[in-house]
Amino acid sequence: HRHAHPPVAACSSVEVPDGAHRHGVANRELADWVVRTALLTRPDEVVWCDGSDAEWTRLTDRMVEEGSLIRLDPGLRPDSFLARSTPDDVARMEDRTFICTSDPADAGPTNNWREPRSMHAELSGLFAESMRGRTMYVVPYSMGPVGGAISQLGVQVTDSAYAAVSLALMARVGDDALEHIGPDTAWVAGVHSVGYPLRNPDGTRRPDVAWPSNPTKYISHFPKERAIWSFGSGYGGNALLSKKCFALRIGSTIARDEGWLAEHMLLLKLTDPDGRALHVAAAFPSACGKTNLAMLQPTLPGWRVETIGDDIAWLRPGADGRLYAINPEAGIFGVAPGTSVATNPVAMDTMRKRTIFTNVALTEDGDVWWEGLTDEPPAHLIDWRGEHWTPASGTSAAHPNARFTSPIEQCRTLADDWYEQDGVPVDAILFGGRRATNVPLVVETDSWAHGVFAGATVSSERTAAQEGTVGELRRDPFGMLPFVGYDMGSHWQHWLDVGEALGAAAPKVFQVNWFRKGEDGTFLWPGFGENARVLAWIADRVTRPGAATTRGTPLGAVPAEGALDVSGLGLSGTSLQALHDVDPASWLDEADRTEEFFTSLGATVPAAVWAQLEALRARLEAA
Ligand code: PEP
Ligand code: NA
Ligand code: MN
Repeated sequence: HRHAHPPVAACSSVEVPDGAHRHGVANRELADWVVRTALLTRPDEVVWCDGSDAEWTRLTDRMVEEGSLIRLDPGLRPDSFLARSTPDDVARMEDRTFICTSDPADAGPTNNWREPRSMHAELSGLFAESMRGRTMYVVPYSMGPVGGAISQLGVQVTDSAYAAVSLALMARVGDDALEHIGPDTAWVAGVHSVGYPLRNPDGTRRPDVAWPSNPTKYISHFPKERAIWSFGSGYGGNALLSKKCFALRIGSTIARDEGWLAEHMLLLKLTDPDGRALHVAAAFPSACGKTNLAMLQPTLPGWRVETIGDDIAWLRPGADGRLYAINPEAGIFGVAPGTSVATNPVAMDTMRKRTIFTNVALTEDGDVWWEGLTDEPPAHLIDWRGEHWTPASGTSAAHPNARFTSPIEQCRTLADDWYEQDGVPVDAILFGGRRATNVPLVVETDSWAHGVFAGATVSSERTAAQEGTVGELRRDPFGMLPFVGYDMGSHWQHWLDVGEALGAAAPKVFQVNWFRKGEDGTFLWPGFGENARVLAWIADRVTRPGAATTRGTPLGAVPAEGALDVSGLGLSGTSLQALHDVDPASWLDEADRTEEFFTSLGATVPAAVWAQLEALRARLEAA
């Protein structure tokens, strides 16, 4: 794979910025790419990052001095910082995200497409001299244990110190990763600039701001070159290129080519009271509780959940024919609002030290606050915009997408398996969304193809106003709508192909929904730690597949009466019934919506997935 090199004027009299050349880089292409990117973007200096504690301290100290980070009270929140973005740079920007392939069909109907050469030409114009007056950080990292069977290598260059220190929390950054990029090793190139040079065209100094960014934003992916070019945004998913850009969009295209899966999944280890351990991968759309499930504290005595990952899993058939998975990341980039000791005590402990908070509110004693952290808001805060705030302000103190960024090793439920060089065998795969209606608490699919259908039909009700109607669904197949780096129907075919290769060793696939509501509009299921009860039933289905613990429905097998342990929950019989109720009429209606959705994706939707829809209709009509 060759990364397209930034064009550089033929005149070699241009001076290479200090630090761009690094001795001993084994991969010539990488060494060249750093120099050429520096020649294009013209930073004052280039710094190769090693991810060390000393580097963390040096960079965060400097950022505090320069005003781009606020140090939180070290007694309350040691080694932790607050960053505030500009109001126009608070989230991933799907409409500024592009897949650049020569054939538009390769990007599929769900991505924004651009022709690679014209995109490169436009980006070269934007990146030209975009780092003037700044430092360009070169950040080598490994996704997954360095040298592991499922792991991949990447290098990001960035003029954002915030991105550099965040990457050090989010990926395995350092010399070990760099040394593993040999002369012929494949690696993913990430070029990132906030697009806020500190010198004017006439050479005079332009003052820096706390959150530099540019009104023009591009998050561009070049799958064939294994390259990402991101311009204008400092925000997580747009700027930490290891995460959504590499691990999902570019990763999914590498995975397609190599016979594995790069998915928007948490990964957890589940241990039953007899000490038997299983591994579960679960795909939910953003903001549907992956972090909470990954850090679940079971209410069922004797059961244990340990965390391996909370957002992304890479899964690959192993030598023994089973499916193995890693969490390619090394950190948590979690949504803060709604996180509390009640909803996720493990996350609260994870962010007790060395954490970067972004767009949360600042308390008078130098700690953080967000909506949902406490029942009573503090009397006075500085809100995420840096303004004085009181409960009477009538605005939210933290941005709803405020984040915490912590090393995953600070998670007290981290499984030893996170360190497994070649991953863990996956026993069960879960697909879920946020469905107020129709979708039962848990359904066991009857085959891999049926499981792929469950993934393809993942959806959430769009807004509260639309809850209770089945017509208005946000379709988010596999939770991957914004993240599949190629054609959606082809992604489903790839899943079918991987299942074919796994054969009888394929994990069992389940559909789950913690969010079903009753007629009165309240949740039927308590969720959170009580979800362990569902995991326990799933574990039993995996270990004793022949046991009479299921009841058939047109959707698949749900727990037989008494098979799901609901002791002590005080659920009424009607609620229990409603949790697994399948209404053929509204499901036939939903099947029509699904047909429209599949049709909208075009001819690549696999025949086997269409066949699942027809089989479902036949079962519903017979019900
Ligand atoms: C992100 O926005 O950077 C991110 C991690 O996305 P999400 O939480 O939506 O998965
Ligand atoms: Na990258
Ligand atoms: Mn995510």
